[in-house]
Amino acid sequence: MEDKTEDKRIVVAIDGPAGAGKSTVARAVAERIGVPYLDTGALYRAIALKLHEEHIMPDDGERVSERLKDLRLEVGRGTISADGVDVTAEIRSALVDGIVSAYAARPEVRDALTGLQRAQAARGLVADGRDMGTVVFPDAELKIFLTADAEERARRRYKERLERGEEADYDDILKQVKERDRYDMTREIAPLRPAQGCIIIDSSDMSAEEAADAVASLAVEFERQRKR
Ligand code: CDP
Repeated sequence: MEDKTEDKRIVVAIDGPAGAGKSTVARAVAERIGVPYLDTGALYRAIALKLHEEHIMPDDGERVSERLKDLRLEVGRGTISADGVDVTAEIRSALVDGIVSAYAARPEVRDALTGLQRAQAARGLVADGRDMGTVVFPDAELKIFLTADAEERARRRYKERLERGEEADYDDILKQVKERDRYDMTREIAPLRPAQGCIIIDSSDMSAEEAADAVASLAVEFERQRKR
């Protein structure tokens, strides 16, 4: 078969608030079009976890940037490790949910991760996060803003927690989802907002699979157009 290396460079940027279904959609799309998937939230979560464990506060810019110089993040297929320790499960904890946005608002943290994310895109990718279409990949071929009602998003998070065998309180989760949205949308650097030229999808009344199908169809169609 002809090697269409160029075709592999498609970048799909998916942004949206917590619990909108971004990772399910991004994973499915990546598989359908055959490019890697990058969960950028996991990178922010791993940094937050690590720095918190080491008592480095988000507003201590000097210590944050000093530590980031030698913090080693490794992303595998659905796994992430920090300084050689697998933190895949730990980064999904309620603790990390509560602290991640404060770290993610810091310029030192964002600068470090923006470069790292761009470096992954050479062979094309589907990346989900908060600033994929606005800052990291403004030239992405396809930009999606995936959203849903806060109540529906909190219900999904609640279900996820129970399925993992963890304790969960719906009202607490709803409060935290709203707080995190506010934090992510109003921060000075790279606030969460729909990127120019993005397609906005409201998944409130869709299952994760339906939303994934909708975005995957767009990506596949885009690929078809490109190959013409
Ligand atoms: O899965 P969920 O949507 O709850 O969160 P996530 O994608 O794992 O991201 C966790 C947090 O990291 C977000 O609330 C943001 O504060 C931050 N984040 C960011 O600032 N920029 C990104 N590209 C991805 C995540």
